Amino acid sequence: MVRLAGQPTSMFATVDHNLHASRRAILSSFFSKKSITGLETMIQGKVEKLMGRLATACDQGTVVPLDSASSALTADIISEFAYGVSLDYLDDPNFKNEVAESILSLASSVHVLKFFPFILSLSKIIPDSVVETLSPEASKILRLQKLVRAQAAVALKNGGHVKGKDTMFGALCDPSLPAEERTLDRLQDEGFSLIGGGTETTTGTLKIIMFNLLHNKSLLSKLREELAQNSCDTWAELEQLPYMRGVINEGLRLSGVITRLPRRAPDEALQLNEWTIPANTLLSTSSWFMHMNTELFPDPYTFDPERWIRAQEAGQRLEPMIAAFIKGSRQCLGNHLALAELYLVISALVRRFDMDLYKTGPEHIVTYREFGFGIPKEKGGLKVIITKTLNS
Ligand code: HEM
Repeated sequence: MVRLAGQPTSMFATVDHNLHASRRAILSSFFSKKSITGLETMIQGKVEKLMGRLATACDQGTVVPLDSASSALTADIISEFAYGVSLDYLDDPNFKNEVAESILSLASSVHVLKFFPFILSLSKIIPDSVVETLSPEASKILRLQKLVRAQAAVALKNGGHVKGKDTMFGALCDPSLPAEERTLDRLQDEGFSLIGGGTETTTGTLKIIMFNLLHNKSLLSKLREELAQNSCDTWAELEQLPYMRGVINEGLRLSGVITRLPRRAPDEALQLNEWTIPANTLLSTSSWFMHMNTELFPDPYTFDPERWIRAQEAGQRLEPMIAAFIKGSRQCLGNHLALAELYLVISALVRRFDMDLYKTGPEHIVTYREFGFGIPKEKGGLKVIITKTLNS
């Protein structure tokens, strides 16, 4: 399972508990809530760049692929954060980028790769042209791996610095780490995991949110009204707005990494009601089953931000039931970054523009099958036409 992404020495793919913990510890302080709050100016800068692109699209009446735009935004943010060098996909006229292409290729091959994980390793030793012919999907993943490897090589050469800045690559190259933990392969794997994990995931959530707000504009009006009445701009302030928070929670509930994620408790038996699960038993479940639980979330397929407000008024603690980022020692490392991005970009989109869906229906957005992520029935993505720039 963990080998399928072709990044065997990343923390994500590290099965051994202690080695995983030591690899995670190198990066965890970068992703703390405090650290992400400190990153807000950079995130806001990228969001502003996206807003500029959308204002131009409004003037020119062009169709905007909002999911690609979001992938460009999130890839630019994580690359700047991880390497100190932005990939600058927000500058591409169509927001085209290798990260989105590569991760979507990985998703479309996920069920094959789970059973034949060596395919991606084989592709590392076969010449590019052969890989391209045999599997265009694998070749897209390889292209991104090469991009990350090039950055990693620069960092290793410069003692951890890419363009003279202290970055996560700097921490990964720290001389105090054992030499075998500072190899080019390891930097490539961790770099690929960060950039891959930090892009399409957040975009998947943004896609569900923006589609539902534009499909049912009464939801959009409520959010816009709340934002108009409260002059808050920072992530910390936006999180305090009940409707806004409900919108983000619904997005997380209806999106995410919904494949079964395996876990085991190596040295203790687990008790679940009357069942004893022996130590070291491999268990797995999907967050989708939890998020579709009708006792917790009545009418679970409906995007209903107010269910969170109703729950709070009734004294029900519903938020801990969200498992989009999973819990425990392997919980998503980038959860605060994802939340900051979502609050800042959704509030900006809603405040700044009127827009309509363009040839986009539920069949292009709503989860229909599982390919690691939840995937809709039809291809096509989230396309919009920006009809008006608003004064905000
Ligand atoms: C809404 C957005 C996101 C969702 C739903 C999400 C979900 C998840 C989930 C479910 C896992 C656990 C995977 C497993 O158990 O094998 C995970 C792990 C991880 N995520 Fe995220 N993620 C999101 C955004 C991000 C972002 C922005 C980053 C930034 C780099 C990131 C980095 C990671 C990393 C590095 C891991 C591996 C952690 C470990 O193994 O200790 N994620 N994510």
